Amino acid sequence: MDMSNLYKHHEPKNRSDRIALAFTKFLRFIADTFFRKKYGHRAVVLETVAAVPGMVAGMLTHLRSLRKMEDDRGWIKVLLEEAENERMHLMTFIQVAKPTSLERFIIIVAQFIFTIMYSLIYLISQRTAHRIVGYFEEEAVFSYSEYLKELETGRIKDQPAPKIAIDYWNLPLHSTLKDVVRVVRDDEAGHRDVNHSFSNILNEKKSRKTQESQKKEGKTVEIK
Ligand SMILES: [Fe+2]
Ligand SMILES: [Fe+2]
Repeated sequence: MDMSNLYKHHEPKNRSDRIALAFTKFLRFIADTFFRKKYGHRAVVLETVAAVPGMVAGMLTHLRSLRKMEDDRGWIKVLLEEAENERMHLMTFIQVAKPTSLERFIIIVAQFIFTIMYSLIYLISQRTAHRIVGYFEEEAVFSYSEYLKELETGRIKDQPAPKIAIDYWNLPLHSTLKDVVRVVRDDEAGHRDVNHSFSNILNEKKSRKTQESQKKEGKTVEIK
């Protein structure tokens, strides 16, 4: 992936975007305070959280499709694949860093809170929920770049890639952790683009609806 694609940022355009960005920056601050430069541990703990939204969004979209008897435009499969891919990130990094007992406890509590919270956000505003993941993934790309820098400069010792990663990404046999971090980062950039574009689609749908209802009421049309 070339660099301009790697560090894309969606400028917040409305209140939903600004809420999503603020929420992301808040969680980023907590993660930075807790993990500092422990990138392996950071990856393990955060990937347990990262694999949640795709599954929740996939399930809720599935249920909605059943209720409304409406086509999902292929979204469900994409979302479930995202969850699967994030879980493979976890399976990979667990070979690199073993979580401490405090981290294991945090993982359990975080899953409980985050799953409920993300489900609620998704039910209230699907558009905000996808934007949140878009912003999470922007941060993930940034964090994996920092991890990569530590590996390249030798501040963190490089090591052979875990076998599970070589199999999953079809990497050459002599690959190292550096190569794994690069492909994981590409995955994150992919999820970022998908979720931002889902949010854009929902946003357009919403402004179309507002426009139509305002036309009906004879008001002047104003798009936010
Ligand atoms: Fe991930
Ligand atoms: Fe991710």
